[in-house]
Amino acid sequence: MSASEFETRLAASAKAVEASLTRRLGGSDPLLAAAPERLLGAMRHGALDGGKRLRPFLLVESACLFGADPAKTLGAAIALECVHCYSLVHDDLPAMDDDAMRRGKPTVHKAFDEATAILAGDSLLTLAFGLIADEDGLSASARLGLVALLSREAGAAGMAGGQALDLEAEGRALSEDEIATMQAMKTGALIACACEAGPVIAEAAAHDRARLRRFGEIVGLAFQLADDLLDETADAATLGKAAGKDRVRGKKTLPALNGIAWTQDRLAELVAQAEAELAPYGDRATTLVETARFVADRRS
Ligand code: IPE
Ligand code: IPE
Ligand code: MG
Ligand code: MG
Ligand code: MG
Repeated sequence: MSASEFETRLAASAKAVEASLTRRLGGSDPLLAAAPERLLGAMRHGALDGGKRLRPFLLVESACLFGADPAKTLGAAIALECVHCYSLVHDDLPAMDDDAMRRGKPTVHKAFDEATAILAGDSLLTLAFGLIADEDGLSASARLGLVALLSREAGAAGMAGGQALDLEAEGRALSEDEIATMQAMKTGALIACACEAGPVIAEAAAHDRARLRRFGEIVGLAFQLADDLLDETADAATLGKAAGKDRVRGKKTLPALNGIAWTQDRLAELVAQAEAELAPYGDRATTLVETARFVADRRS
């Protein structure tokens, strides 16, 4: 699969995610029918029109690897994207990274206000579990499995816990292992969740679930490494968010600790590990392997 074929596939998936999210956040959905208009507007601002939509893509591709019907994966895919968007809305708050731009637009607390941004994040997180419960194309046990997985990965032992470590580290030095743990939690958890959700949806064997989890953890590490590298090497216009801020804020990153050349070597190593993990699936896993490559090579 060429890089351009991959990008066409990712773009088609992002379009389907956008359409589905637009529909669900439209206000006529039973889950949101009584939502205040301003809060709904803030949720839409945080979730629609932007982003690479990489987590939903990983989820759908991981499910399809085990024979799932793509149409039945979309509810879980947008649920995960809602959790990711919530994490970004809160990550940008003044009490956290204090950022003014996200996905090329003002952050939610800038476009609305801080309290509304907090509540929009809360509402996106909560909505995610309703979207999974609603996915009647999936068996009850698959839905329950997804709820348990997402709860673990988004919460204190996953993304939110990693964010706590990230903030706590602003004021002190971290070892390389401590940085890797923090990355695995704040970013790796939701990416591993995307990959593990595939076999959960397809009700695949436990060993397949474990393999996709390992693949997701590797991709998650590569993802944050690339994000930290881009913070050092790219500009805000390309990223659609602030650049060069991690050092200023005392963020603990591996590119800052070990340098850019080390980071590029490590990214290549992680792509090779990701590829090796999926080798048993042969050509069926080409798109997922290509996704790992995309994550490591991305420019924004
Ligand atoms: C940014 O995630 C936050 C991190 C976990 C590093 P993405 O780079 O996936 O952000 P969008 O969704 O494409 O905007
Ligand atoms: C964010 O990491 C991880 C999240 C859980 C949102 P960063 O703080 O580096 O993400 P950006 O650079 O703001 O997108
Ligand atoms: Mg942050
Ligand atoms: Mg941030
Ligand atoms: Mg960053």
